[in-house]
Amino acid sequence: RQNVRESLYIILNYAKNYYQHQLHNSDEGQAIGLSYFRERGFTNEIRKKFELGYSLDNWDAFSKEALEKGYSAEILEKAGLLIHKEGSHTAGYDRFRGRVIFPIHNVAGKTIAFGARILKSDKNQPKYLNSPETEVYHKSEVLYGIYQAKNAIRSLEHCYLVEGYTDVISLHQAGIENVVASSGTSLTVEQIRLIGRFTPNVTILYDGDMAGIKAALRGLDLVLEEGLNVNVVLFPDNEDPDSYVRRVGAEAFKEHLKKASKDFITFKTEILLQDAGNDPFRLAAVIQEVVNSIVKIPDAIKRQVFFHRTSEMMRVDEQMLITEGNKLLRKQQ
Ligand code: UTP
Ligand code: MN
Ligand code: MN
Ligand code: MN
Ligand code: MN
Repeated sequence: RQNVRESLYIILNYAKNYYQHQLHNSDEGQAIGLSYFRERGFTNEIRKKFELGYSLDNWDAFSKEALEKGYSAEILEKAGLLIHKEGSHTAGYDRFRGRVIFPIHNVAGKTIAFGARILKSDKNQPKYLNSPETEVYHKSEVLYGIYQAKNAIRSLEHCYLVEGYTDVISLHQAGIENVVASSGTSLTVEQIRLIGRFTPNVTILYDGDMAGIKAALRGLDLVLEEGLNVNVVLFPDNEDPDSYVRRVGAEAFKEHLKKASKDFITFKTEILLQDAGNDPFRLAAVIQEVVNSIVKIPDAIKRQVFFHRTSEMMRVDEQMLITEGNKLLRKQQ
């Protein structure tokens, strides 16, 4: 077991170096990959920091070279780099072809997987291809950028959470280094605990579309349960942190973070209230839903603060909210 993991780290590190080399030194990598990153405004420095690369548009350019170097087809497959079809006479073909490469690191900085972006949009192919689950890569436990962000998170006692790889990279380039990405999946308990190892304070920066936000609202109770302090910042429609920071610049971006940041319970209450309008039945459901979130907070003093605040927002009696909350708390025990 231990040996397999060690071998996987070695081949993944080899692959990371290979893709970086192709980006900077092959004609195809320069013409396609490098110009893509330049168009997105990524500097040399930031490409090096995140060890970005390029995979040639060829069926087996990578695996051929790795096999020649003595790596086995079996380990390449276990690393998620080689796809072997049952019954085929060849070793297989490369998973990543003709894409720019984002290595995914663990907390210690070892490469454990890759995200690979297509260059031109194509509805027959996913925008990002990612490594499959392997013995060293469990997607639900990983936060993209944690290795590059951990010192800043610790010293600033605060972590920004974004959706995508390029959000993390653009924010670093703008001087905001305490940022990690959930990589498109909804947040898991493991990811939340990983943040909690470095700080209890999280601000979630969502892509600006209401549908996604409402879906995410439910999952966020998880973060409260883990005792983290959660704030939320919304971006304008169809913008994500990457596009927004590039459009308005670093200073205006930081200003937006300050102005638009709301604690999660207040944010959730506002959105649910807007939705409910004046319908008393729906208002009653909103009250239940908000109390449900508040009782997830482990700290009694923080709960009290939110009972008070939300009673004012919803124009209902604070004592009634506390009584409802206490009923739920007794049930939880
Ligand atoms: P987005 O669609 O918001 O992409 O998905 P993005 O990060 O803004 O990327 P650009 O700016 O178009 O290049 C957010 C994240 O969801 C995951 C990736 O981790 C992505 O960064 N994702 C998205 C996938 O894994 N596969 C996909 O096909 C799309
Ligand atoms: Mn999105
Ligand atoms: Mn984007
Ligand atoms: Mn996005
Ligand atoms: Mn009070």
